[in-house]
Amino acid sequence: MGRGVSMGKAPSILVAIIFLCCWISIANAEYNTYQDPKQPVMKRVKDLLSKMTLQEKIGQMTQIERLVASADVLNKYYIGSVLSGGGSVPSRKASPEAWVDMVNGFQKGSLSTRLKIPMLYGIDAVHGHNNVYRATVFPHNVAIGATRDPQLAKRIGAATALEVRATGIPYVFAPCVAVCRDPRWGRCFESYSEDPKLVRAMTEIIPGLQGEIPSNSPKAVPFVAGQQKVVACAKHYVGDGGTTRGRNENNTLASRHDLLGIHMAPYYNAVIKGVASVMVSYSSWNGVKMHANRDLITGFLKNTLHFRGFVISDWQGIDRITSPPHLNYTYSILAGVGAGIDMIMVPYDYKEFISGLTSLVERKFIPMSRIDDAVARILRVKFTMGLFEHPLADYSMAKYLGSQEHRELAREAVRKSLVLLKNGGSADEPLIPLPKKASKILVAGTHADNIGYQCGGWTIEWQGLSGNNITAGTTILSAIKNTVNPKTRVVFQENPDSAYVKANKFSYAIVVVGELPYAETFGDSTNLTLQDPGPSIITNVCASVRCVVVLVTGRPVVIQPYLAQIDALVAAWLPGTEGQGVADVLFGDYGFSGKLPRTWFKTVDQLPMNVGDRHYDPLFPFGYGLTTHPAKAK
Ligand code: BGC
Ligand code: BGC
Repeated sequence: MGRGVSMGKAPSILVAIIFLCCWISIANAEYNTYQDPKQPVMKRVKDLLSKMTLQEKIGQMTQIERLVASADVLNKYYIGSVLSGGGSVPSRKASPEAWVDMVNGFQKGSLSTRLKIPMLYGIDAVHGHNNVYRATVFPHNVAIGATRDPQLAKRIGAATALEVRATGIPYVFAPCVAVCRDPRWGRCFESYSEDPKLVRAMTEIIPGLQGEIPSNSPKAVPFVAGQQKVVACAKHYVGDGGTTRGRNENNTLASRHDLLGIHMAPYYNAVIKGVASVMVSYSSWNGVKMHANRDLITGFLKNTLHFRGFVISDWQGIDRITSPPHLNYTYSILAGVGAGIDMIMVPYDYKEFISGLTSLVERKFIPMSRIDDAVARILRVKFTMGLFEHPLADYSMAKYLGSQEHRELAREAVRKSLVLLKNGGSADEPLIPLPKKASKILVAGTHADNIGYQCGGWTIEWQGLSGNNITAGTTILSAIKNTVNPKTRVVFQENPDSAYVKANKFSYAIVVVGELPYAETFGDSTNLTLQDPGPSIITNVCASVRCVVVLVTGRPVVIQPYLAQIDALVAAWLPGTEGQGVADVLFGDYGFSGKLPRTWFKTVDQLPMNVGDRHYDPLFPFGYGLTTHPAKAK
């Protein structure tokens, strides 16, 4: 203490007091293995689990909707996760900062619990951060399937992760890896393809969302690379795309061989790529509800595939184990948790869920080992992703939301996803690429000037919307106007009558028609016809002027009856906010390269009809798509 001696007396006492205070406070802040990021993840999980009460464990298994969430509720019930359902936003057109404030507000409730376990906020970001105003809306999965470009899917995943993190959210319910075998299904656009090989390839979106597993780390364990990445969720396990007549949430009749070969196939890839969660399907397999299927959840996914992330239920998924739903909720909890579901998307009546599960455990209907398995899996993901070290978001990533770079990426995806199905009567007289220079062109159709329609369901609202004020983007009409020669007159008539079309001397016409937005069961269709006035617009226009028909649809629709009148036909799927990509290709700045990710049927009575079927007689086969070369600038 030689230096202390040389100091004055009063200051040295002060130093001693300060030193003592520091020492006391350090000694009081108890060291916890689970709070030490230098400890291996599984050691932290074990330590934390050993400190938790039953109440705290059950809280971790509970996911609630933001509408019923508050810092107090999270704190009082130890809630492990909060979600935004489709269209559930802090306020209309909320800014990224408002989202961050909301998520952090909830998080503070969790961080002030005894063990300070952070909650995990989740949202459906199924084609970009689709609930959020001004986010980049990418084409829906069916369109990504048409690009045949898994690296593009990966880049979209990375961009989506940044936009989701921009709003303070670290978890997405994506990707949907359904293998849609019948386009009558209302969720067919959420599926990359009818071909399991193509869906498997598109699981590259997972390393885009979560980050690439370093070559020296183990595969097939949950992996999230940090604050720029998000937890992903492969859904809906399993057989969601195989239901009879494509009826949503219905029964998939299939042999075990077909189930594993068709619908299970993408999960092999998803698990190897470290997907951190898997969502269970509402549907049944051979009459057994997937939410109650212990053999496939615990037996196959956890034990055979060695999936080490957590299994989440779908929205009120356990309720729907009984029909009518919620008939016997105690039984639903027993069957669902017993089957191996780790986190339950309750999402509203958490008190009922928590008391039901608590009493099932106390009465030993559900063993503690099942609860510990569930909680260990959830905690493993929370530790792996760094949530304990970074539970609160800041505003620094807000700049990524709807960034120009992401919009360019979405535009590229649109260009690569368009499928050219017909181009003139013969190869000698192609209509596309369209000339940019023309005296007067007609743009017609319900979908030409409607951002909501071109984005489809799961955009801003669960069911999607109509109109151009819902979010930022470029309609196909404005894209056309941006692209043609400044001297070309572009006339827009949504629904012109045939006399009008005849009377005006148009050089050519572009007709943009399609399906109205829908999601889930609302999209189920037995006839797959284009709603009126789509067909009459095609007829009125194409009868008297050379026309390109651009279909804005989530799936193949009935088109054969109109095909002879149509000069050129383009499947544009649901392209999202960046409509400029459509004009880029129509006018030849880029060539067409997209290939059908689905079989295009002639008539609905052929369905289901998929590539490889014995009786295969499509209008356009799987993989079809004419190509064009970029035009020389004129
Ligand atoms: C859908 C899921 C979705 C969940 C949360 C359910 O109705 O089936 O795909 O992730 O809602 O919005
Ligand atoms: C929610 C969706 C959910 C659906 C399920 C809606 O109210 O907003 O997220 O998928 O219910 O039925």
